[in-house]
Amino acid sequence: MKNLKILLLGSTGQVGWELHRSLLPLGTVIPVSQSTSPLQVDLRKGEQIRDLIQTVRPDFIVNAAAYTAVDRAESDRDLAHTINAIAPGILAVEAKKIEAALIHYSTDYVFNGRQAIPYQEYDQTDPVNVYGKTKLEGEKAIVSAEGNYLILRTSWVYGNRGKNFLRTILRLAQEKPEIRIVDDQWGAPTWSRTIAESTTFILTRSIASPRQFFEKFTGIYHLTASGITNWYEFARSILELAPFRTVFESCSSSLALLPTKIKSFPLPAKS
Ligand SMILES: NC(=O)c1ccc[n+]([C@@H]2O[C@H](COP(=O)([O-])OP(=O)(O)OC[C@H]3O[C@@H](n4cnc5c(N)ncnc54)[C@H](OP(=O)(O)O)[C@@H]3O)[C@@H](O)[C@H]2O)c1
Repeated sequence: MKNLKILLLGSTGQVGWELHRSLLPLGTVIPVSQSTSPLQVDLRKGEQIRDLIQTVRPDFIVNAAAYTAVDRAESDRDLAHTINAIAPGILAVEAKKIEAALIHYSTDYVFNGRQAIPYQEYDQTDPVNVYGKTKLEGEKAIVSAEGNYLILRTSWVYGNRGKNFLRTILRLAQEKPEIRIVDDQWGAPTWSRTIAESTTFILTRSIASPRQFFEKFTGIYHLTASGITNWYEFARSILELAPFRTVFESCSSSLALLPTKIKSFPLPAKS
């Protein structure tokens, strides 16, 4: 079987780091980030993206890179737009030129969050903040390039690397006597490793005949863990679950976890 070349963007991120590990059995994984990997690309620079793809000529481009600072995006609109909307469009156009497939990640923030039941792929998008708007523009740019792609929308990503809710709660548990967490915002926390392993599973299914696979399955999909919870219940589970109990018990025996409402937490980005 052909040795597949997989170009992995955002390899230092939560999802990218897990992808690097899980994609390895499929072929040669070429990790790229803007700072630390041997091969670097700055997604603000279109020429760098084009050169990278023309030089590597991968079979798959997996794009786990993004501007993910949801609140900061409100005052950093241009940068968020460049990385989340323009860069994915360039990736899609370049992927099409070399007949590579693009795997890209998007977010539940493309919806307005007012629906009481879980969103389906065909539901109307209506982002309410800059991050969501730029991610939706990125999706549209990929679709309009008309190449082979999978856009995998996920939500509430956590893992043992990077900035995420799980790590924040564990840190706060060591620093504070009391934590207030909102209990009126619902979602599906999704482990970064689940996203990576699902992606690898999908690509494994495509390898035998990628052209037929992507002709059939190119599109937008929701990829989250099943079930829903709110941030308060999620925090409670984080603190209760066995693997973390030592951290919890050793440093926060008097910790009080208190439910609160989203309106008491005014943040720059609407959600
Ligand atoms: N985090 C969530 O809760 C969440 C929820 C839903 C969807 N998603 C989506 O899931 C995907 C992965 O998110 P994540 O949480 O794993 O992201 P993350 O941990 O914030 O990592 C972002 C990655 O993007 C890279 N990057 C940022 N700016 C770049 C630039 N100018 N040029 C090149 N690389 C750049 C970073 O590289 P450096 O380390 O070099 O800066 C890093 O590797 C994204 O598409 C995100 O929108 C995330």
